Amino acid sequence: MESSVKQAMPDDRQTVRSPARSSTAERYGAGAVAFHWIMFVLVLIVGALGLLHDSWPKRTHVFWINVHAILGLSLWVMLIARFWWRMRHVPPKLPFEIGTLSRRLATPAHLGLYALMFITPIVGVVTFIWHGRVFDFGLFQIDFGVRSNRGIFEPTEDLHGYLAYALFALAGLHIAAALWHRFVVHDGVMARMWPH
Ligand code: HEM
Ligand code: HEM
Repeated sequence: MESSVKQAMPDDRQTVRSPARSSTAERYGAGAVAFHWIMFVLVLIVGALGLLHDSWPKRTHVFWINVHAILGLSLWVMLIARFWWRMRHVPPKLPFEIGTLSRRLATPAHLGLYALMFITPIVGVVTFIWHGRVFDFGLFQIDFGVRSNRGIFEPTEDLHGYLAYALFALAGLHIAAALWHRFVVHDGVMARMWPH
């Protein structure tokens, strides 16, 4: 088991030269980078569709919430695939020159992002189903046959919203940190996750 993890590591690590310091730093592999940026776009689209929900004409609500739900489910499935991938591909070590604060905050921030991307869609599914809605995948539908229950979907809808706002806030701080590394500190952190 341990040896298979170790064997996977070299594939996931690549070495880049940092022009600023002309030192070498390891970067995330192509798989991790692809997962990161595809999921970033999905969070943007799913989040925007969630926020826009009340702005659509009433007769199109069912259509738009279905699009939101199906893209949100795709995001969740991709998160599981990403997690599976992550377990088999050890991330690169932080460059030696990274300060203590960044070093201490990086792991809890990343874990928080993973946790929010995991739990927010689950609460969304509960809201969706207990609102009496049906998943429409175009070629087929999934109807859980649950009758709309305000006592359940109202609190879960609020919770889903709060979790989504927490995800936006943490992602905002994470993006600010990435930009700070890139434009203020000029270290190689951003390059580690930038498509090669
Ligand atoms: C990470 C993924 C997701 C994000 C970021 C997200 C985000 C949001 C946001 C921002 C809202 C509006 C909340 C408000 O106005 O207070 C919302 C509403 C909602 N979302 Fe999601 N969502 C996600 C996944 C899902 C999934 C997978 C489902 C269902 C399968 C879902 C179902 C719903 C429902 C039913 C509402 C309530 C809409 C309404 O009737 O007002 N969401 N979502
Ligand atoms: C929805 C928005 C985003 C989410 C949820 C997100 C999530 C994550 C997660 C979970 C990781 C940790 C990867 C791992 O070790 O498994 C990560 C790393 C990273 N992200 Fe994001 N990200 C988002 C947007 C962005 C954006 C817009 C940027 C750039 C401006 C960015 C730059 C980075 C960088 C540079 C790393 C690597 C950090 C390191 O070297 O330790 N992220 N991101």
